Amino acid sequence: MPVELSKMPKIVTRHFGAEEVKKIAEARKQGGYTQLKKAFAMQPQAIVDEVKKSNLRGRGGAGFPTGMKWGFIPKDAKTVYLVINADESEPGTCKDRELIYWDPHLLIEGVIISSYALGCSHAYIYIRGEMIREFAVLQRAVEEAYASGLLGAESPTAKGPFKLDLTVHRGAGAYICGEETSLLNSLEGKRGWPRLKPPFPAVKGLFGQPTIVNNVETICNIPAIIDKGAEWFAGLGTPRSGGTRILCMSGHLNKPGVFELPMGIPLRTVINDICGGVPGGKKVKAVIPGGSSMPPLDASELDIPMEFDALMTDERIKPVEVKPGVKFDMGGGKILRTMAGSGGVIVMDESTDLVAVTWRIMKFYAHESCGQCTPCREGTGWLARITERMARGEGRPGDVELCGTIAHGIAGNTICPLGEAAAWPMLGFLTKFRSEFEAKIKPGLVPEIPAHPITATGIRSPELERRG
Ligand SMILES: Cc1cc2nc3c(=O)[nH]c(=O)nc-3n(C[C@H](O)[C@H](O)[C@H](O)COP(=O)(O)O)c2cc1C
Ligand code: SF4
Repeated sequence: MPVELSKMPKIVTRHFGAEEVKKIAEARKQGGYTQLKKAFAMQPQAIVDEVKKSNLRGRGGAGFPTGMKWGFIPKDAKTVYLVINADESEPGTCKDRELIYWDPHLLIEGVIISSYALGCSHAYIYIRGEMIREFAVLQRAVEEAYASGLLGAESPTAKGPFKLDLTVHRGAGAYICGEETSLLNSLEGKRGWPRLKPPFPAVKGLFGQPTIVNNVETICNIPAIIDKGAEWFAGLGTPRSGGTRILCMSGHLNKPGVFELPMGIPLRTVINDICGGVPGGKKVKAVIPGGSSMPPLDASELDIPMEFDALMTDERIKPVEVKPGVKFDMGGGKILRTMAGSGGVIVMDESTDLVAVTWRIMKFYAHESCGQCTPCREGTGWLARITERMARGEGRPGDVELCGTIAHGIAGNTICPLGEAAAWPMLGFLTKFRSEFEAKIKPGLVPEIPAHPITATGIRSPELERRG
Protein backbone atom coordinates (compact mmCIF):
# COMPACT_ATOMS: atom_id res chain seq x y z
CA MET A 1 0.00 0.00 0.00
CA PRO A 2 1.52 3.35 -0.99
CA VAL A 3 2.03 5.77 1.87
CA GLU A 4 -0.26 8.83 1.70
CA LEU A 5 1.09 12.24 2.56
CA SER A 6 -2.28 13.48 3.84
CA LYS A 7 -2.22 10.80 6.56
CA MET A 8 1.18 11.84 7.95
CA PRO A 9 1.35 13.63 11.32
CA LYS A 10 2.09 17.36 10.91
CA ILE A 11 3.73 19.31 13.70
CA VAL A 12 5.53 22.21 12.06
CA THR A 13 4.04 22.41 8.57
CA ARG A 14 0.34 22.32 9.39
CA HIS A 15 -0.14 25.96 8.36
CA PHE A 16 1.73 25.72 5.06
CA GLY A 17 -0.39 27.31 2.35
CA ALA A 18 -2.56 29.31 4.77
CA GLU A 19 -1.60 32.93 3.98
CA GLU A 20 -3.68 34.50 6.78
CA VAL A 21 -1.80 32.64 9.59
CA LYS A 22 1.07 35.06 9.05
CA LYS A 23 -1.05 37.64 10.88
CA ILE A 24 -1.01 37.36 14.64
CA ALA A 25 -4.81 37.57 15.02
CA GLU A 26 -5.36 34.56 12.78
CA ALA A 27 -2.36 32.71 14.23
CA ARG A 28 -3.92 33.09 17.70
CA LYS A 29 -7.31 31.90 16.42
CA GLN A 30 -5.55 28.76 15.14
CA GLY A 31 -3.98 28.05 18.54
CA GLY A 32 -0.81 30.13 18.22
CA TYR A 33 0.80 31.28 21.48
CA THR A 34 -1.56 29.11 23.59
CA GLN A 35 1.35 27.03 24.84
CA LEU A 36 2.93 30.06 26.54
CA LYS A 37 0.45 29.81 29.40
CA LYS A 38 1.26 26.14 29.96
CA ALA A 39 5.01 26.74 29.66
CA PHE A 40 4.99 29.70 32.08
CA ALA A 41 3.19 27.52 34.65
CA MET A 42 6.22 25.19 34.56
CA GLN A 43 9.60 25.78 36.17
CA PRO A 44 12.24 26.51 33.46
CA GLN A 45 14.18 23.37 34.41
CA ALA A 46 11.02 21.29 33.95
CA ILE A 47 10.85 22.49 30.32
CA VAL A 48 14.49 21.54 29.75
CA ASP A 49 13.73 18.09 31.22
CA GLU A 50 10.66 17.73 29.00
CA VAL A 51 12.72 18.57 25.89
CA LYS A 52 15.35 16.01 26.98
CA LYS A 53 12.66 13.33 27.38
CA SER A 54 11.15 14.15 23.97
CA ASN A 55 14.30 12.95 22.15
CA LEU A 56 14.21 16.11 20.00
CA ARG A 57 17.45 16.29 18.02
CA GLY A 58 18.80 19.35 16.25
CA ARG A 59 17.59 19.75 12.69
CA GLY A 60 20.49 21.98 11.60
CA GLY A 61 22.82 19.17 10.56
CA ALA A 62 24.51 17.29 13.37
CA GLY A 63 21.38 15.90 15.04
CA PHE A 64 22.65 16.76 18.51
CA PRO A 65 20.07 16.14 21.30
CA THR A 66 18.48 19.53 22.01
CA GLY A 67 17.66 19.01 25.70
CA MET A 68 21.19 17.80 26.38
CA LYS A 69 22.62 20.90 24.67
CA TRP A 70 20.36 23.15 26.75
CA GLY A 71 21.64 21.35 29.86
CA PHE A 72 25.22 22.53 29.12
CA ILE A 73 24.38 26.14 30.10
CA PRO A 74 26.24 26.70 33.40
CA LYS A 75 23.82 26.81 36.32
CA ASP A 76 25.27 30.09 37.64
CA ALA A 77 25.12 31.91 34.26
CA LYS A 78 23.92 35.52 34.63
CA THR A 79 23.40 36.31 30.93
CA VAL A 80 22.32 33.65 28.46
CA TYR A 81 21.59 34.09 24.75
CA LEU A 82 19.47 32.02 22.41
CA VAL A 83 20.40 32.37 18.74
CA ILE A 84 18.25 30.86 16.03
CA ASN A 85 20.18 29.72 13.00
CA ALA A 86 18.13 30.70 9.94
CA ASP A 87 21.12 30.87 7.62
CA GLU A 88 20.01 27.74 5.74
CA SER A 89 22.96 27.53 3.42
CA GLU A 90 23.54 23.82 2.87
CA PRO A 91 22.90 23.05 -0.84
CA GLY A 92 19.72 21.02 -1.23
CA THR A 93 18.09 22.46 1.90
CA CYS A 94 15.09 24.78 1.69
CA LYS A 95 12.86 24.09 4.72
CA ASP A 96 13.66 26.86 7.21
CA ARG A 97 12.70 29.54 4.73
CA GLU A 98 9.33 27.81 4.26
CA LEU A 99 8.78 27.54 8.02
CA ILE A 100 9.53 31.23 8.44
CA TYR A 101 7.43 32.25 5.46
CA TRP A 102 4.32 30.22 6.34
CA ASP A 103 4.34 30.19 10.13
CA PRO A 104 6.53 32.94 11.62
CA HIS A 105 4.46 33.04 14.82
CA LEU A 106 5.15 29.35 15.48
CA LEU A 107 8.86 30.13 15.43
CA ILE A 108 8.39 33.15 17.70
CA GLU A 109 6.33 31.09 20.17
CA GLY A 110 9.10 28.46 20.16
CA VAL A 111 11.70 31.16 20.79
CA ILE A 112 9.74 32.59 23.74
CA ILE A 113 9.28 29.19 25.41
CA SER A 114 12.90 28.19 24.79
CA SER A 115 14.21 31.53 26.10
CA TYR A 116 12.13 31.14 29.25
CA ALA A 117 13.55 27.63 29.77
CA LEU A 118 17.12 28.86 29.26
CA GLY A 119 16.90 32.07 31.28
CA CYS A 120 17.50 34.20 28.20
CA SER A 121 16.20 37.76 27.99
CA HIS A 122 17.49 38.65 24.52
CA ALA A 123 17.23 36.19 21.63
CA TYR A 124 18.39 36.61 18.04
CA ILE A 125 17.30 35.14 14.74
CA TYR A 126 20.16 35.19 12.24
CA ILE A 127 18.54 35.03 8.83
CA ARG A 128 20.29 34.57 5.48
CA GLY A 129 20.50 37.89 3.64
CA GLU A 130 19.08 36.52 0.39
CA MET A 131 15.83 35.54 2.10
CA ILE A 132 14.26 38.92 1.48
CA ARG A 133 10.66 37.67 1.34
CA GLU A 134 11.03 35.60 4.51
CA PHE A 135 12.77 38.42 6.36
CA ALA A 136 9.88 40.79 5.59
CA VAL A 137 7.32 38.25 6.88
CA LEU A 138 9.34 37.51 10.01
CA GLN A 139 10.05 41.15 10.83
CA ARG A 140 6.34 41.98 10.54
CA ALA A 141 5.46 39.05 12.83
CA VAL A 142 8.05 40.15 15.42
CA GLU A 143 6.60 43.68 15.36
CA GLU A 144 3.11 42.25 15.89
CA ALA A 145 4.37 40.16 18.82
CA TYR A 146 5.91 43.31 20.36
CA ALA A 147 2.66 45.23 19.84
CA SER A 148 0.73 42.42 21.55
CA GLY A 149 3.02 42.45 24.58
CA LEU A 150 4.32 38.93 23.90
CA LEU A 151 7.78 40.39 23.37
CA GLY A 152 9.39 43.31 25.16
CA ALA A 153 7.05 43.22 28.16
CA GLU A 154 7.17 41.47 31.50
CA SER A 155 5.19 38.21 31.42
CA PRO A 156 2.52 38.35 34.13
CA THR A 157 2.24 34.57 34.45
CA ALA A 158 5.84 33.30 34.27
CA LYS A 159 7.40 31.79 37.38
CA GLY A 160 9.78 34.64 38.23
CA PRO A 161 10.54 37.77 36.19
CA PHE A 162 10.66 37.10 32.44
CA LYS A 163 10.79 39.59 29.60
CA LEU A 164 12.16 38.79 26.16
CA ASP A 165 13.56 40.96 23.40
CA LEU A 166 13.96 39.41 19.97
CA THR A 167 16.21 40.80 17.25
CA VAL A 168 16.15 39.62 13.65
CA HIS A 169 19.61 40.03 12.13
CA ARG A 170 20.30 39.62 8.43
CA GLY A 171 23.47 37.87 7.32
CA ALA A 172 25.29 38.78 4.14
CA GLY A 173 25.02 35.39 2.46
CA ALA A 174 28.06 33.28 3.29
CA TYR A 175 27.73 29.51 3.69
CA ILE A 176 30.26 29.53 6.50
CA CYS A 177 28.05 31.85 8.56
CA GLY A 178 25.70 28.87 9.05
CA GLU A 179 28.41 27.26 11.19
CA GLU A 180 27.46 28.30 14.70
CA THR A 181 30.67 29.98 15.90
CA SER A 182 31.12 31.79 12.61
CA LEU A 183 27.51 32.95 12.90
CA LEU A 184 28.23 34.31 16.38
CA ASN A 185 31.25 36.24 15.10
CA SER A 186 29.13 37.65 12.30
CA LEU A 187 26.40 38.62 14.76
CA GLU A 188 29.01 40.44 16.83
CA GLY A 189 29.94 42.46 13.74
CA LYS A 190 33.16 40.59 13.11
CA ARG A 191 34.34 38.65 10.07
CA GLY A 192 32.40 35.38 9.81
CA TRP A 193 35.27 33.08 10.74
CA PRO A 194 34.68 29.93 12.80
CA ARG A 195 36.12 29.85 16.31
CA LEU A 196 38.15 27.00 17.76
CA LYS A 197 36.09 24.73 20.03
CA PRO A 198 36.27 24.29 23.01
CA PRO A 199 35.05 26.53 24.50
CA PHE A 200 31.65 25.60 23.09
CA PRO A 201 29.01 28.32 22.69
CA ALA A 202 26.97 26.92 25.61
CA VAL A 203 29.86 28.01 27.84
CA LYS A 204 31.29 30.99 25.91
CA GLY A 205 29.25 32.16 22.95
CA LEU A 206 27.74 35.45 21.87
CA PHE A 207 29.57 38.42 23.44
CA GLY A 208 31.47 35.87 25.55
CA GLN A 209 28.31 34.67 27.32
CA PRO A 210 26.72 31.18 27.45
CA THR A 211 24.71 30.78 24.24
CA ILE A 212 22.50 28.16 22.67
CA VAL A 213 22.41 28.05 18.88
CA ASN A 214 19.47 26.11 17.45
CA ASN A 215 18.06 25.59 14.01
CA VAL A 216 14.65 27.05 12.99
CA GLU A 217 12.96 23.66 12.62
CA THR A 218 14.30 22.50 15.99
CA ILE A 219 12.69 25.44 17.78
CA CYS A 220 9.42 25.21 15.83
CA ASN A 221 8.90 21.80 17.49
CA ILE A 222 9.00 23.20 21.06
CA PRO A 223 5.36 24.42 21.34
CA ALA A 224 4.07 20.95 20.31
CA ILE A 225 6.26 19.28 22.94
CA ILE A 226 4.77 21.56 25.60
CA ASP A 227 1.26 21.01 24.22
CA LYS A 228 1.19 17.24 23.84
CA GLY A 229 4.08 16.18 26.04
CA ALA A 230 7.49 14.59 25.62
CA GLU A 231 6.18 11.04 25.45
CA TRP A 232 3.85 11.80 22.58
CA PHE A 233 6.65 13.52 20.67
CA ALA A 234 9.18 10.76 21.34
CA GLY A 235 6.58 8.15 20.33
CA LEU A 236 6.22 9.66 16.87
CA GLY A 237 9.85 8.94 16.04
CA THR A 238 12.41 6.18 16.40
CA PRO A 239 13.84 5.08 19.79
CA ARG A 240 16.52 7.81 19.82
CA SER A 241 15.01 10.51 17.56
CA GLY A 242 11.65 12.01 18.44
CA GLY A 243 9.08 13.71 16.24
CA THR A 244 8.88 14.18 12.51
CA ARG A 245 11.49 15.39 10.03
CA ILE A 246 11.22 17.80 7.13
CA LEU A 247 12.84 16.42 4.01
CA CYS A 248 13.64 18.79 1.13
CA MET A 249 13.31 16.48 -1.88
CA SER A 250 14.99 17.69 -5.07
CA GLY A 251 16.66 16.36 -8.20
CA HIS A 252 15.24 13.77 -10.58
CA LEU A 253 11.77 13.37 -9.06
CA ASN A 254 8.29 13.67 -10.51
CA LYS A 255 7.04 15.59 -7.46
CA PRO A 256 9.89 17.34 -5.67
CA GLY A 257 9.05 19.47 -2.63
CA VAL A 258 9.34 20.10 1.10
CA PHE A 259 7.60 17.35 3.11
CA GLU A 260 7.17 16.76 6.83
CA LEU A 261 7.46 13.00 7.28
CA PRO A 262 7.72 10.47 10.10
CA MET A 263 11.27 10.09 11.40
CA GLY A 264 12.75 6.88 10.01
CA ILE A 265 10.58 6.59 6.89
CA PRO A 266 12.47 4.48 4.28
CA LEU A 267 14.09 6.53 1.54
CA ARG A 268 12.56 4.35 -1.17
CA THR A 269 9.06 5.13 0.17
CA VAL A 270 9.78 8.84 0.05
CA ILE A 271 11.06 8.67 -3.51
CA ASN A 272 8.28 6.46 -4.87
CA ASP A 273 5.17 7.19 -2.78
CA ILE A 274 5.68 10.79 -1.72
CA CYS A 275 7.60 12.13 -4.71
CA GLY A 276 6.02 10.01 -7.45
CA GLY A 277 9.22 8.27 -8.52
CA VAL A 278 11.84 9.25 -11.08
CA PRO A 279 10.78 10.92 -14.39
CA GLY A 280 10.69 8.66 -17.41
CA GLY A 281 10.78 5.58 -15.17
CA LYS A 282 14.56 5.87 -15.00
CA LYS A 283 16.55 4.15 -12.26
CA VAL A 284 18.10 5.96 -9.31
CA LYS A 285 21.87 6.05 -9.48
CA ALA A 286 22.77 8.02 -6.35
CA VAL A 287 21.14 10.01 -3.57
CA ILE A 288 22.64 12.70 -1.36
CA PRO A 289 20.68 12.13 1.86
CA GLY A 290 21.27 15.27 3.93
CA GLY A 291 22.73 18.21 2.03
CA SER A 292 25.72 18.31 -0.31
CA SER A 293 28.27 17.74 2.47
CA MET A 294 27.05 14.20 3.06
CA PRO A 295 28.45 11.07 1.38
CA PRO A 296 26.00 9.68 -1.19
CA LEU A 297 23.97 6.50 -1.12
CA ASP A 298 23.90 4.21 -4.11
CA ALA A 299 20.93 2.36 -5.61
CA SER A 300 21.41 -0.66 -3.34
CA GLU A 301 20.99 1.49 -0.22
CA LEU A 302 17.53 2.98 -0.74
CA ASP A 303 15.72 0.94 1.92
CA ILE A 304 17.49 2.80 4.64
CA PRO A 305 15.38 4.60 7.29
CA MET A 306 15.75 8.39 7.02
CA GLU A 307 16.91 8.90 10.58
CA PHE A 308 20.06 10.25 12.27
CA ASP A 309 21.52 7.01 13.69
CA ALA A 310 20.53 4.71 10.84
CA LEU A 311 22.22 6.87 8.21
CA MET A 312 25.38 7.05 10.29
CA THR A 313 25.79 3.45 11.33
CA ASP A 314 23.46 1.12 9.45
CA GLU A 315 25.36 -1.92 8.21
CA ARG A 316 23.47 -1.79 4.92
CA ILE A 317 25.29 1.42 3.92
CA LYS A 318 28.83 1.15 2.68
CA PRO A 319 31.16 3.21 4.88
CA VAL A 320 33.24 6.16 3.72
CA GLU A 321 36.89 5.27 3.25
CA VAL A 322 39.52 7.85 4.07
CA LYS A 323 41.96 5.79 2.02
CA PRO A 324 41.60 2.33 0.51
CA GLY A 325 40.76 -0.10 3.30
CA VAL A 326 40.69 2.54 6.05
CA LYS A 327 37.19 3.48 7.20
CA PHE A 328 36.34 6.84 8.73
CA ASP A 329 35.93 6.35 12.47
CA MET A 330 33.85 9.07 14.13
CA GLY A 331 35.06 8.04 17.56
CA GLY A 332 33.69 5.36 19.84
CA GLY A 333 34.03 2.86 17.00
CA LYS A 334 31.26 4.46 14.95
CA ILE A 335 32.18 4.12 11.32
CA LEU A 336 30.84 7.01 9.26
CA ARG A 337 28.58 5.84 6.50
CA THR A 338 26.62 9.01 5.84
CA MET A 339 24.47 11.45 7.80
CA ALA A 340 20.91 12.78 7.88
CA GLY A 341 22.40 16.29 7.94
CA SER A 342 20.08 19.17 7.14
CA GLY A 343 17.37 17.08 5.44
CA GLY A 344 18.32 18.15 1.91
CA VAL A 345 17.82 15.03 -0.24
CA ILE A 346 19.08 15.18 -3.84
CA VAL A 347 18.08 12.29 -6.11
CA MET A 348 20.13 11.56 -9.23
CA ASP A 349 18.98 9.20 -11.97
CA GLU A 350 21.03 6.77 -14.05
CA SER A 351 21.90 9.41 -16.66
CA THR A 352 23.73 11.64 -14.14
CA ASP A 353 27.44 12.30 -14.60
CA LEU A 354 28.62 11.90 -11.00
CA VAL A 355 32.08 13.25 -11.74
CA ALA A 356 30.47 16.50 -12.90
CA VAL A 357 28.31 16.47 -9.76
CA THR A 358 31.39 16.04 -7.57
CA TRP A 359 33.12 18.89 -9.40
CA ARG A 360 30.12 21.15 -8.78
CA ILE A 361 30.13 20.28 -5.08
CA MET A 362 33.90 20.82 -4.74
CA LYS A 363 33.64 24.16 -6.55
CA PHE A 364 31.06 25.25 -3.99
CA TYR A 365 33.20 24.34 -0.98
CA ALA A 366 36.34 25.87 -2.50
CA HIS A 367 34.38 29.10 -2.99
CA GLU A 368 32.91 29.06 0.51
CA SER A 369 36.05 28.09 2.47
CA CYS A 370 36.84 30.98 4.79
CA GLY A 371 40.56 30.43 4.29
CA GLN A 372 41.62 30.23 7.94
CA CYS A 373 43.14 26.74 7.76
CA THR A 374 45.54 25.54 5.11
CA PRO A 375 44.14 22.02 4.50
CA CYS A 376 40.67 23.44 3.75
CA ARG A 377 41.76 26.62 1.95
CA GLU A 378 44.21 24.84 -0.36
CA GLY A 379 42.70 21.35 -0.43
CA THR A 380 39.20 22.40 -1.51
CA GLY A 381 40.70 24.42 -4.37
CA TRP A 382 42.85 21.48 -5.47
CA LEU A 383 39.85 19.14 -5.36
CA ALA A 384 37.80 21.59 -7.41
CA ARG A 385 40.53 21.90 -10.06
CA ILE A 386 41.24 18.18 -10.29
CA THR A 387 37.58 17.16 -10.46
CA GLU A 388 37.03 19.86 -13.07
CA ARG A 389 39.65 18.42 -15.37
CA MET A 390 38.25 14.92 -14.78
CA ALA A 391 34.74 16.13 -15.55
CA ARG A 392 36.09 17.52 -18.83
CA GLY A 393 37.59 14.11 -19.65
CA GLU A 394 41.10 15.48 -19.13
CA GLY A 395 41.95 13.57 -15.94
CA ARG A 396 45.60 12.68 -15.47
CA PRO A 397 46.80 9.24 -14.39
CA GLY A 398 46.85 9.22 -10.57
CA ASP A 399 44.09 11.83 -10.22
CA VAL A 400 41.70 9.40 -8.52
CA GLU A 401 44.27 8.56 -5.85
CA LEU A 402 45.27 12.21 -5.59
CA CYS A 403 41.69 13.26 -4.80
CA GLY A 404 41.52 10.60 -2.10
CA THR A 405 44.82 11.71 -0.58
CA ILE A 406 43.83 15.38 -0.54
CA ALA A 407 40.41 14.67 0.99
CA HIS A 408 42.06 12.46 3.59
CA GLY A 409 44.44 15.31 4.39
CA ILE A 410 41.54 17.72 4.96
CA ALA A 411 39.23 15.55 7.08
CA GLY A 412 39.87 15.97 10.79
CA ASN A 413 42.59 18.60 10.30
CA THR A 414 40.62 21.83 10.26
CA ILE A 415 39.06 24.32 12.67
CA CYS A 416 35.47 23.72 11.59
CA PRO A 417 33.61 20.93 9.77
CA LEU A 418 33.54 22.75 6.40
CA GLY A 419 36.70 20.80 5.63
CA GLU A 420 34.85 17.52 6.15
CA ALA A 421 31.88 18.92 4.24
CA ALA A 422 34.15 18.84 1.16
CA ALA A 423 36.17 15.74 2.04
CA TRP A 424 33.26 13.42 2.88
CA PRO A 425 31.33 13.71 -0.40
CA MET A 426 34.63 13.49 -2.30
CA LEU A 427 35.52 10.26 -0.50
CA GLY A 428 31.96 8.98 -0.67
CA PHE A 429 31.59 9.46 -4.43
CA LEU A 430 35.07 8.03 -5.00
CA THR A 431 34.37 4.97 -2.84
CA LYS A 432 31.02 4.12 -4.38
CA PHE A 433 31.46 5.26 -7.97
CA ARG A 434 35.21 4.89 -8.50
CA SER A 435 34.87 3.46 -12.01
CA GLU A 436 33.16 6.67 -13.19
CA PHE A 437 36.16 8.70 -12.08
CA GLU A 438 38.61 6.22 -13.60
CA ALA A 439 36.78 6.49 -16.91
CA LYS A 440 37.64 10.20 -17.02
CA ILE A 441 41.40 9.62 -17.02
CA LYS A 442 42.98 10.47 -20.36
CA PRO A 443 45.90 8.14 -21.11
CA GLY A 444 49.13 9.79 -22.08
CA LEU A 445 48.85 12.87 -19.87
CA VAL A 446 51.57 13.56 -17.31
CA PRO A 447 50.54 12.61 -13.77
CA GLU A 448 50.41 15.41 -11.23
CA ILE A 449 51.65 13.56 -8.16
CA PRO A 450 55.24 12.31 -8.54
CA ALA A 451 56.90 15.59 -9.41
CA HIS A 452 54.79 18.01 -7.35
CA PRO A 453 57.34 20.69 -8.10
CA ILE A 454 56.25 23.49 -5.77
CA THR A 455 59.43 24.64 -4.06
CA ALA A 456 59.81 25.19 -0.33
CA THR A 457 59.41 28.92 -0.87
CA GLY A 458 56.06 28.37 -2.55
CA ILE A 459 57.41 29.64 -5.89
CA ARG A 460 56.32 27.55 -8.83
CA SER A 461 59.23 25.69 -10.35
CA PRO A 462 60.18 25.96 -14.02
CA GLU A 463 58.92 22.37 -14.41
CA LEU A 464 55.41 23.36 -13.29
CA GLU A 465 55.47 26.49 -15.43
CA ARG A 466 56.40 24.35 -18.40
CA ARG A 467 53.34 22.11 -17.81
CA GLY A 468 51.00 25.07 -17.36
C1 LIG B 1 29.77 24.79 7.32
C2 LIG B 1 28.55 24.65 8.15
C3 LIG B 1 27.37 25.24 7.76
C4 LIG B 1 26.23 25.12 8.55
N1 LIG B 1 25.08 25.70 8.13
C5 LIG B 1 23.98 25.62 8.92
C6 LIG B 1 22.77 26.27 8.53
O1 LIG B 1 22.69 26.89 7.47
N2 LIG B 1 21.70 26.17 9.36
C7 LIG B 1 21.75 25.47 10.55
O2 LIG B 1 20.77 25.43 11.30
N3 LIG B 1 22.89 24.83 10.93
C8 LIG B 1 23.99 24.90 10.16
N4 LIG B 1 25.14 24.30 10.57
C9 LIG B 1 25.14 23.62 11.90
C10 LIG B 1 25.36 24.66 13.02
O3 LIG B 1 26.77 24.82 13.21
C11 LIG B 1 24.75 24.21 14.34
O4 LIG B 1 25.20 22.92 14.65
C12 LIG B 1 23.23 24.20 14.32
O5 LIG B 1 22.72 25.45 13.95
C13 LIG B 1 22.73 23.83 15.72
O6 LIG B 1 21.33 23.76 15.72
P1 LIG B 1 20.56 22.41 16.06
O7 LIG B 1 21.22 21.81 17.27
O8 LIG B 1 19.18 22.84 16.33
O9 LIG B 1 20.71 21.54 14.86
C14 LIG B 1 26.29 24.39 9.77
C15 LIG B 1 27.49 23.77 10.15
C16 LIG B 1 28.60 23.89 9.34
C17 LIG B 1 29.85 23.21 9.78
S1 SF4 C 1 37.72 24.39 7.79
FE1 SF4 C 1 37.62 25.83 6.08
S2 SF4 C 1 35.85 27.08 6.51
FE2 SF4 C 1 36.36 26.04 8.44
S3 SF4 C 1 37.71 27.45 9.52
FE3 SF4 C 1 39.03 26.13 8.29
S4 SF4 C 1 39.30 27.25 6.34
FE4 SF4 C 1 37.56 28.16 7.40
